Amino acid sequence: MTMPRNYGLAPLGAGIGLRRQHFSDIIDQLPPVNWFEVIPENFLGRGGFVTDALRRIADRYTLVGHGVSLSIGSTDPLNMTLLREVKKFCDACRCPWYSDHLCFTMVDHVNLNDLIPLPFTQEAVKNVAQRVKIVQEVLERPFLLENVTYYMQVAKSQMTEPEFISAVLEEANCGLMLDVSNVILNSSNHGFAPVDFLDSIPLHRVGQLHLGGFEKQGDILLDTHAKPVAEETWALYQEVLKRIGPTSALIEWDFEIPSLARLLQEAVMAQTLMDEVTQGHIPAT
Ligand SMILES: [Fe+2]
Repeated sequence: MTMPRNYGLAPLGAGIGLRRQHFSDIIDQLPPVNWFEVIPENFLGRGGFVTDALRRIADRYTLVGHGVSLSIGSTDPLNMTLLREVKKFCDACRCPWYSDHLCFTMVDHVNLNDLIPLPFTQEAVKNVAQRVKIVQEVLERPFLLENVTYYMQVAKSQMTEPEFISAVLEEANCGLMLDVSNVILNSSNHGFAPVDFLDSIPLHRVGQLHLGGFEKQGDILLDTHAKPVAEETWALYQEVLKRIGPTSALIEWDFEIPSLARLLQEAVMAQTLMDEVTQGHIPAT
């Protein structure tokens, strides 16, 4: 059976993250960007200028939702209050799909404010898959899980990272937000070939890409999201595009956030490479 590409989602081209400090510039300049990614947790419960500006931006651009605190892999109960608020937010912004991370952030009802990787076990696969089904029911839109970085191997893991991700996606029947820079980080920190990783996951489920900056500390690459996209990430991005064709690719720059103009330069680079690599190319998936 032929599977639809991009998990059946529209390929929006290159986009950037929507940050409050750029609201005025976006509204005044209406920059030529294909779409924005918006983190609901940054805007929930905010009134006045923020709500008004979001509404105006949503009227002109596609906004895709990306969460940071669903804690999909946690053993705490799902935060249904948050989930319903996210649903309202996505409806108001007309988000075509939503994503969050394949990790956990809550332990015993305490938010660790960090993306903690899961053990690669069958038990974790089952737990995540059950919770994704609830998330999809509440959100009523396609849901993607994002591959995260990890700095040590969990001793009890029963499978490799790509085996774990593939098992979760199949059992939960959801999409993948492939963070290309996270693949570079993990491959460097744990000693595997990034292209082998690509060839071990169900690429037809990739609905969106993240491209973020990282930093080197000694032999370790750190996921800081405070730098331009690295050469290695651009190279792997092109390998991804060869395999999946045009898609939606997001420049992820969350700290030491530069000017809107600088972010747009990165998006132009992402779009130019996408056009070059995918022109006339019929992907295999
Ligand atoms: Fe990411």
